[in-house]
Amino acid sequence: MVTSSDKENLLSHKGLAIWMTGYSGSGKSTLAYQLERRLHEEGILTKVLDGDILRLGINKDLGFSMEDRTENIRRTAELTKQLVSCGVVVICSLITPTNELRRLAENIIGNQHFILYHIATPLTVCEQRDVKGHYAKARSGEIKEFTGISNPFETPTNAIYSIDTSELSIEKSVDIMFDDLFPLLAI
Ligand code: ADX
Repeated sequence: MVTSSDKENLLSHKGLAIWMTGYSGSGKSTLAYQLERRLHEEGILTKVLDGDILRLGINKDLGFSMEDRTENIRRTAELTKQLVSCGVVVICSLITPTNELRRLAENIIGNQHFILYHIATPLTVCEQRDVKGHYAKARSGEIKEFTGISNPFETPTNAIYSIDTSELSIEKSVDIMFDDLFPLLAI
């Protein structure tokens, strides 16, 4: 058997899941891709798993009921677990609106391989940005069960790390995240 440690040794770093939770428009995906670039430049093998993109493929049969969100998180966490066991640093960008869903992801991946990062940009700022026009549609009722408007978002109780992109630039946010996370990758 080729073990996970053998693969981590091959890559000279540990596998890890960095799970970003936050409202739509909070900056999760932007930070995920910028952080990926930064880690890549340091020789780290990375993969971004973005809820919006997974919902076009592996999760395209799922909507936004709590049952479907649970299945969305479950599948994504199982996929993440497989990649982490190959030594990959997986950056997951999904709203993951409840503590139960965050726990589900952590339990599947294993807490020694799981870092929860709260992208804590306030809802008012995300709604003002409304990059995809979803908040306006959610307010008018055109989109149902929209997180923060007509569906809950619980403040994470078990996130050690938190970044608010309304207070910090993307560059500064990525610097902080990199400094938090890079030391955790050492073998
Ligand atoms: S999660 O709740 O299951 O974790 P996920 O991150 O995969 O959500 O998908 C969220 C993205 O789907 C949002 O960024 C937004 O673009 C889109 N979306 C469409 N409808 C909704 C909705 N009702 N609630 C939240 N996001 C929605």
